[in-house]
Amino acid sequence: RLHRIAVIPGDGIGQEVMPEALRALQAAQARFGFQLDLTPIGWASCGHYVKTGEMMPADWKAQLQGMDAILFGAVGWPATVPDHISLWGSLLKFRREFDQYINLRPVRLFEGVPCPLAGRKPGDIDFLVVRENTEGEYTNLGGVMYAGTEREIVVQETVMSRFGADRVLKFAFEQAAARPRKKLDVATKSNGIAISMPWWDGRADAMHKHYPQIAVEKHHIDILTARFVLQPQRFDVVVASNLFGDILSDLGPACTGTIGLAPSANLNPERQFPSLFEPVHGSAPDIFGQNIANPVAMIWSAAMMLQFLGEQAAHDAILKAIEQVLAQGPRTPDLGGQASTTEMGQAIAAAL
Ligand code: NAI
Ligand code: MG
Repeated sequence: RLHRIAVIPGDGIGQEVMPEALRALQAAQARFGFQLDLTPIGWASCGHYVKTGEMMPADWKAQLQGMDAILFGAVGWPATVPDHISLWGSLLKFRREFDQYINLRPVRLFEGVPCPLAGRKPGDIDFLVVRENTEGEYTNLGGVMYAGTEREIVVQETVMSRFGADRVLKFAFEQAAARPRKKLDVATKSNGIAISMPWWDGRADAMHKHYPQIAVEKHHIDILTARFVLQPQRFDVVVASNLFGDILSDLGPACTGTIGLAPSANLNPERQFPSLFEPVHGSAPDIFGQNIANPVAMIWSAAMMLQFLGEQAAHDAILKAIEQVLAQGPRTPDLGGQASTTEMGQAIAAAL
């Protein structure tokens, strides 16, 4: 089993946590006998933009097309490069042009990690957020009219397609069917957004007919955010449109301690294009350069990559190693410890 991986550390702490993911991958490789063909890539970074005036070379798609997966750190440093340039010039291009229509974010409370929600213990919080990643509220259809006058108006359209909604709902039902609880929660707002959201609910109902064994519950997004905080134990798989999923997939990890733990996958499940695996966090300019960033989000993202590539045993072993180190230490400062990024990464690789 040979897997071709593009390795893009990007900017800021992306460069500090990526080596720890590679260390874990190397240990997993030695233990489970698959092979990784790693291609390090320096572009898709603000560093590259500062040198060349562009985030990526013109032939970026051709260079990445043949890869099985992309392992990505973070973009966004130095701050002289505006965020819309760094994100739209790299990650958002990958998502759209490689049709990575699923954004998958596991949310889990680990032993040894202080939970910001009172009274929660490991086991109470363990669910998946499935976010639609290519359409919905995030379009550039619209514009400003009568700009600068008192009559100024702005319009931005939401676009949902039957094709796009059905494929993300199907993916979410499949995830729910593969887990023991057989439960799917659907984010909506059909009381306020009175055209697209009742339609979205209808697509969920239509897909539910193919999965009668799954219990479905719909929640308006406002109460759903409250329930994430107040009753996180009721969730198993949560599916949402692009905007709602974006909000939920930051709120979820926030309920489990530190953003330094949260991984994500941007999937093209049909494998027509490479999928991308990255931590939820960004370049963290406030701690960059000190070697104190938590490497777990990056390492867990690498584990999700292995799972997607069919290396389930290696994924499970990395998760076990993460669990062990979170419970026993060493821990980085965001977890209340004093360890460096390197020390925590080494401990995880050693546990593996
Ligand atoms: P951020 O995630 O970089 O940082 C938010 C806070 O969390 C900071 O206080 C940071 O120190 C802390 N933090 C983040 N990751 C951590 C880790 N692994 N260990 C310990 N603490 C950690 O988000 P922020 O500050 O909003 O954005 C900074 C830059 O990153 C911006 O340029 C933004 O556009 C970019 N960004 C890039 C993303 C990506 O590449 N996917 C995602 C989010 C932001
Ligand atoms: Mg977000």
